[in-house]
Amino acid sequence: MSKVCVVGAGFVGSTVAQYVAEKDYADVVLIDVLEGIPQGKSLDMHQVAPINSHGRKIFGTNNYADTAGSDVVVITAGIARKPGMSRDDLLKTNAGIVQSVAKEAVKHSPDAIFIVVTNPLDVMTYLTFKTTKLPAKRVIGMAGVLDSARFATFISMELGMSAEDVKAMVLGGHGDLMVPLPRFSSVNGVPIPELISKERIEEICKRTANGGAEIVALLKAGSAWYAPGASAAQMVGSILHDKNRLLPCAVYADGQYGLKDVYVGLPAVLGREGVKKIVELKLNDDEMAALKKSAQSIRENIDVMNQLLVAV
Ligand code: APR
Repeated sequence: MSKVCVVGAGFVGSTVAQYVAEKDYADVVLIDVLEGIPQGKSLDMHQVAPINSHGRKIFGTNNYADTAGSDVVVITAGIARKPGMSRDDLLKTNAGIVQSVAKEAVKHSPDAIFIVVTNPLDVMTYLTFKTTKLPAKRVIGMAGVLDSARFATFISMELGMSAEDVKAMVLGGHGDLMVPLPRFSSVNGVPIPELISKERIEEICKRTANGGAEIVALLKAGSAWYAPGASAAQMVGSILHDKNRLLPCAVYADGQYGLKDVYVGLPAVLGREGVKKIVELKLNDDEMAALKKSAQSIRENIDVMNQLLVAV
């Protein structure tokens, strides 16, 4: 029986727990520092089982011993972005939180695959990799699935065609410099540039890169959670069911695309061992330059984080 530990019982964490249980991927243990919150939310979600007809258990706790032996650990603990706050502003606070929860979680689930959701995503995933000392293939960041879903949604809105048929690919960091790839996005196999003008594609790409901030500005407090939760759950499903789905994720680049020692969004095959393969697309010069620029900005933030952590 598979077990997924979700760290952080906030908006994103509880949504991940809900999707993982309802899609019948695994039992879930939801853990948070707040007393009563993970317990209360878990009990509430567990009581959906007879209504939506699934047999999965959701259990809330403040004790890492209860998370022992998890197959997948999803880290959502941290503070969410406030209006006007960039993902990178979150760096300092969330680095301390992610470091402490990753240390505890891996102690109790040394064989788990870690999925990181806390922002700034690429840097927090790198930190989890360094903190847990797990092989890189077992530490993965959730961002590309979400950014691609946002891109796909905007494409379907533009065309008035069902989002069901839209497959989109967004690489690079989970930030303003992300790299939407219209050439590698399609409606049921029809490439996007065949269907949408160059100018409109550019506008849709911009809206995609601003996708998180658009929601933050509307909500006024907190950031998105439904699509982030669904995205992390999709990755959990591909891992636990060994589906080998090709999903853009933040993965450890070790020479691929000419990038080294950085976590950045690349197309990855996800299965039971984690990242089975990173697929190298033939990018054109502009796409490659945008990817390198995005990776460079992540690299700079990793350096900032390393200095902050040394200073603590
Ligand atoms: N251990 C466990 N849980 C923690 C810790 C910790 N050390 N520190 C904070 N938390 C918990 C908080 O108590 C809170 O319940 O993390 C949860 C965060 O939930 P929300 O504030 O609702 O934030 P959410 O919207 O879920 O976003 C979480 O995901 O998408 C990213 O940018 C987002 O970094 C943010 C993260």
